[in-house]
Amino acid sequence: MKKATFAVAVAAAVGIAGAAQAQPYPSRPITMVVPFAAGGPTDTLARILGERMRQSLGQTIVIENTTGAAGSIGVSRVVRAAPDGYTVGIGHWSTHVINGAIYPLNYDLLTDLDPVALLPANPQLIVTKPNVPAKDLKELIAWAKENQDKISGGTAGAGSASHIGGIYFQQKTGARYPFVPYRGTGPAIQDLIAGQIDIMVDQSSNSLPQVQNGKLRAFAVTASKRIASAPDIPTVDEAGLPGFYISVWHGLWVPRGTPKEAIERLTAAAQEALADPGVQKRLADLGQEIPPRDVQTPDGLNRVQKAEIEKWWPIVKAANIKAE
Ligand code: MLT
Repeated sequence: MKKATFAVAVAAAVGIAGAAQAQPYPSRPITMVVPFAAGGPTDTLARILGERMRQSLGQTIVIENTTGAAGSIGVSRVVRAAPDGYTVGIGHWSTHVINGAIYPLNYDLLTDLDPVALLPANPQLIVTKPNVPAKDLKELIAWAKENQDKISGGTAGAGSASHIGGIYFQQKTGARYPFVPYRGTGPAIQDLIAGQIDIMVDQSSNSLPQVQNGKLRAFAVTASKRIASAPDIPTVDEAGLPGFYISVWHGLWVPRGTPKEAIERLTAAAQEALADPGVQKRLADLGQEIPPRDVQTPDGLNRVQKAEIEKWWPIVKAANIKAE
């Protein structure tokens, strides 16, 4: 190749590489890692938000369910992914707070991830298979104590929100039935409907549709006020377990070192999704409460996560919950 031709070829190659680097983010599909099974509460939230975020980002959000060890395997997958804005992890109170007190994690929940957005929170429901012989929560507790050697409760693994809810229920009531771990409460609830297991303390966003179509029974909501879309379900205060409150808040994280511009685009897309009236209606129907817009931010999520670590780690460590 002549010198002049070579120089032109190099200039062209550099130009192409430069153009590729300058491609605006996002230029290809984004993977959202859900650390629990498909069909469960985290998966449902990811799909509702991902569908709307696609409109803002102009790229598809591909949902990937990486399950096991109460979500810690999926979170590890996000920690190890390239910090390029193309892998995002959705998680919640138990994956990004509780697991740190139970599992010997090979990552740090605060320093190995960058926060993106604080997402909605939902209470849990105390739910059972349909044919339990109890007309209210007090009768359910009496039945669970009498039958604790015959019944079992479903969870999404040691330390998951449903497991912590179940342990808290046992501590408050004295009913000591065994737990059966699943890879998420999506599959667990199918076994509850089928009567393979008997009781769960599960996020409203998972069990409420099944309660409303008569496949499960709900005895109380773990909050101080009733869910607007399910006004017949009493609060724990009204039903006889005063103060038994659990709220499962969610968030989006990316691998540490993800470019700031990518995080800003993702935060904005999440905020736009949460401001969409169609999304708001779907979430409200599931009992999900949207945080104020000014805390749907990296800083808002970081503050909540840190405060919850300080509050819950001593409680969980004292409960001596064993990893799977
Ligand atoms: C799930 O998506 O299956 C849940 O978030 C599990 C749980 O923590 O209870």
